[in-house]
Amino acid sequence: MKWTTKKFRQIKSKSERKKLTMLTCYDFQTANALNKSEIDLILVGDSLGNVVLGYETTCRVSIEEMIVFGSAVKRGAPDKFTVIDMPFGTYANKSLALENGIKLFQQTGAEALKLEGANEQVIGSIKSLVNTGIPVIGHIGLTPQFFHQQGGYFTHGKTAEEKDILVQQAIDIQNAGASLIVLECVTEEVATKITERLTIPTIGIGSGESTDGQVLVINDLLGSGVKTPPSFCKPVKNFYEEKLDAISTFISITNETTSKSSISLRDNENIYN
Ligand code: KIV
Repeated sequence: MKWTTKKFRQIKSKSERKKLTMLTCYDFQTANALNKSEIDLILVGDSLGNVVLGYETTCRVSIEEMIVFGSAVKRGAPDKFTVIDMPFGTYANKSLALENGIKLFQQTGAEALKLEGANEQVIGSIKSLVNTGIPVIGHIGLTPQFFHQQGGYFTHGKTAEEKDILVQQAIDIQNAGASLIVLECVTEEVATKITERLTIPTIGIGSGESTDGQVLVINDLLGSGVKTPPSFCKPVKNFYEEKLDAISTFISITNETTSKSSISLRDNENIYN
């Protein structure tokens, strides 16, 4: 079953409902696997700036990069509701949001775009995109595009004032027409309050268990990188070690004898099939 914005609107009214699952994805082959799986949603996050491109922060990711990775994922996962991040600076005002949002939406074939933050400019941008027919996902709490402004990566919503601000931001995003909202690293208390208050589903990351769904960066889940994943993510695999093993195996086999190697050229008509 492919998710639609209409179905998202309906799930909150159901008493018995399963949690929404969302994973990030940045490439065609992983998208093929997700397309075959039971995953509900795919996010082409601008976290690709960190895990694929090696940038220090997501602020360096460009719209062109999101188009390249977003369209590769969409080609690999045509059956999944796919959300693509609008990168830093591309929705700083309504007209930029429309120009960049339409380009990203049309050129990738995504089902929705995600915007970080909830200040006046972002709310205006969400409204413009939704009014144009582009479904939008909100994102509050730890918002990596605001890393420099927020002053680092930490849990949000610890004080009474912060709690009230976060709840109001979530309401503003819903009122602007968003279909879902990501709550990143907010306290469980705030996540619970927002989840109870909103009529659109909440998707949590590092925000406890009360949200309507959960999202993770797939590279963290698979242990693909050399860095330890964030404390809220327990990797289920150690792909980094497996890559090192595979590389060593290749080197050993090649040094032993090339004729035994799995890479020796075969006389085959369809080498790439
Ligand atoms: O860019 C990303 O991967 C994200 C998730 C962490 C929610 O925004």
